[in-house]
Amino acid sequence: MAVGIFDSGLGGLTVLDAVAKRLPDVPLVYMGDSAHAPYGVRTPDDIYNLTTSATQRLFDEGCDLVILACNTASAAALRRMQESWVPQGKRVLGVFVPMIEALTERQWGDNSPPREVAAKHVALFATPATVASRAFQRELAFRAVGVDVEAQACGGVVDAIEDGDMILADALVRSHVDALMRKMPQPDAAILGCTHYPLMETEFQAALGPDVKVFSQANLVAESLADYLARRPEMVGPGQVSTFLTTGDPDKVSSRATQFLRRQITFTAA
Ligand code: DGL
Repeated sequence: MAVGIFDSGLGGLTVLDAVAKRLPDVPLVYMGDSAHAPYGVRTPDDIYNLTTSATQRLFDEGCDLVILACNTASAAALRRMQESWVPQGKRVLGVFVPMIEALTERQWGDNSPPREVAAKHVALFATPATVASRAFQRELAFRAVGVDVEAQACGGVVDAIEDGDMILADALVRSHVDALMRKMPQPDAAILGCTHYPLMETEFQAALGPDVKVFSQANLVAESLADYLARRPEMVGPGQVSTFLTTGDPDKVSSRATQFLRRQITFTAA
């Protein structure tokens, strides 16, 4: 029994942590492609090729279900993977939909027509590739009408986090929030549309001010996964042990992960 969790690097650990707390008995195999991070400045083809090869690695580890805990991969590769690549009996799910369902006050599987929702002015913070894909706006349009979305491509933040340079990450968050607020002075909600950003959630909230509701994915994805596995328990798969795999330097990645999650995390080479 193991569920795979994939990210371009360390950001998906925010999702892994929430899933491990919500589903403590489910073994999780984490795969971080730190050697190729950041994905957010790559082309859609590049992101597709890297994501499929990392996902295959997780299938080889005994996972039948893989969560793309990476918005960039979910935005740029997931649909193509589901349409033409995912083998029979395997499932790959992304992290966009649970967050959009929370923003649009919907229950899982509510396919009723789009309707008006409380949030009218939404700030989206994401990687350049996620913003360019417009996947967020597309998914939102299936569920809500009358929502004005202003997207800010947050160049540099993922690199700074991967490098452990939190001072630079903080400065970049402030400057991206400033840039967003010049375009949309009073958002009612902000979406942290990259799984690295919850590691900077306090900084985002401080820069946005207390009146902006910040939506962050980890708990929403964990809840939605618990719901999915209650309906499809067979998708937990045959793997038995939790492991952490990286394409980067395992020592360096382990020490950053341990710092971020405040518990010992040991990566091995993928
Ligand atoms: N955590 C990834 C995401 O959610 C970061 C992508 C990147 O590597 O740029 O988008």
